[in-house]
Amino acid sequence: MTTSWPFIASANPLEIDHAKGAYLYTRNGEKILDAAGGAIVVNVGHGREEVADAVREAAANSSYAVPPWITPEREALLNELREHWLPAHLPCVHLVSGGSEGNESAIKMAVQYHAAHGLPEKNVILARSLSYHGTTIAMAGVSGHAARKIGIEGLISEPPRILTPNPLRCPLGANHPGAADYYIQNLEATIADVGPDRIAALIAEPMNGSSGGAITAPDGYWERAQAILERHDILLIMDEVMTGFGRTGEKFGCDRFGIEADLLVAGKGMGGGYAAITGVYGRQEIADTIADAGYAVMFHTFGALPISCAASTVVLEILRREDLLANVKRQGAALKAALLSELGQHPHVADVRGEGLLLGVEIVEDRESLTPFPIDQKITDRIVGHAMGNGVFFYPGGTGEYRDIICVGAPFTIDTQEVDLMVTTLKRAIDEVTGA
Ligand SMILES: Cc1ncc(COP(=O)(O)O)c(C=O)c1O
Repeated sequence: MTTSWPFIASANPLEIDHAKGAYLYTRNGEKILDAAGGAIVVNVGHGREEVADAVREAAANSSYAVPPWITPEREALLNELREHWLPAHLPCVHLVSGGSEGNESAIKMAVQYHAAHGLPEKNVILARSLSYHGTTIAMAGVSGHAARKIGIEGLISEPPRILTPNPLRCPLGANHPGAADYYIQNLEATIADVGPDRIAALIAEPMNGSSGGAITAPDGYWERAQAILERHDILLIMDEVMTGFGRTGEKFGCDRFGIEADLLVAGKGMGGGYAAITGVYGRQEIADTIADAGYAVMFHTFGALPISCAASTVVLEILRREDLLANVKRQGAALKAALLSELGQHPHVADVRGEGLLLGVEIVEDRESLTPFPIDQKITDRIVGHAMGNGVFFYPGGTGEYRDIICVGAPFTIDTQEVDLMVTTLKRAIDEVTGA
């Protein structure tokens, strides 16, 4: 019964009958362009028969084996990852079901690594002011996402935070040339404040996902940040749950910024929506140090399920075979250029940003002062709703405090026609909702 779903009934539950390519088809016969790729997950498109076949074969072959054991499906995935995807310095793989689990695992590994070195007091995780790392109790605390902690503030603990570098809203001025310096100073001051000897790791998304809508650090920030972290023996955990496996047009967001994570977490696109799978990828030295100390890295029961590994292997093969990262770059650049041309001077658009097919459009009441619309005007929901009424699903971004963000995270298979549909639909929705 759809009336009892989800846990808190939603005002307009969508009833999806099936999905194919970049489109969702509702029970009412509507066709909706999935410009959000679900929750910015779908990459090879919906309804790929060869993924379905691989899942069927895997289920028939062996339904379950404890995660540390090898099965043919696990072996095939590990080969695909190591031969074609993972940076050479991250050969160690821990597979879990989702992004929250992956980030928690990476944080545990970072703390275990320092404890194994005889530094158990190096156990503080630095996080960022605007961020999202998941929805478990621990990850809700680590995330800088106000809307997703409402009502549980008393339960969760807050880590120390650095500022998320945000060129548009840099206190020195929008897109100020000193922005990288400003945010680097904030990183250094925060490390000094907390005490470098207490900090195990910084967890960060290379580019914000939906919390900030593809906010991208100023040039040079990441390289400098990495050097500072290294100097203080602070590990860098890159949360690439959204950016990993091609969403920005590079294999990983780290590649875009020329940095090397110590632990990299990537989910969503790893299974393309066909499998609940996320990987934690780490340096050999981290795994060896944890192992030498006799510590364990516990598995989740459903980590590395054979069906998930089989689906992921085929999704990753399709990405390569169809050269879909090139299409991400091509169509992402075309989409961003068209959005900038149609909306760049719009009185209520403060920014069009992002890379590849992770783009964000930030809406404001006043473009000069960057003042957002009052929260009770629910601008994001209304724009997303308007576009949906015209056949395109965009992803609502922002954290409540930080608003109003419309995210694009389309499947990597989109073409020019779909780019045009996204642009015209979004422009119309923004015009009509903001009254411009
Ligand atoms: C950057 C990032 N990290 C972590 C998560 C949490 O992943 P999951 O919902 O699979 O637990 C998300 C989900 O949106 C995300 O975008």
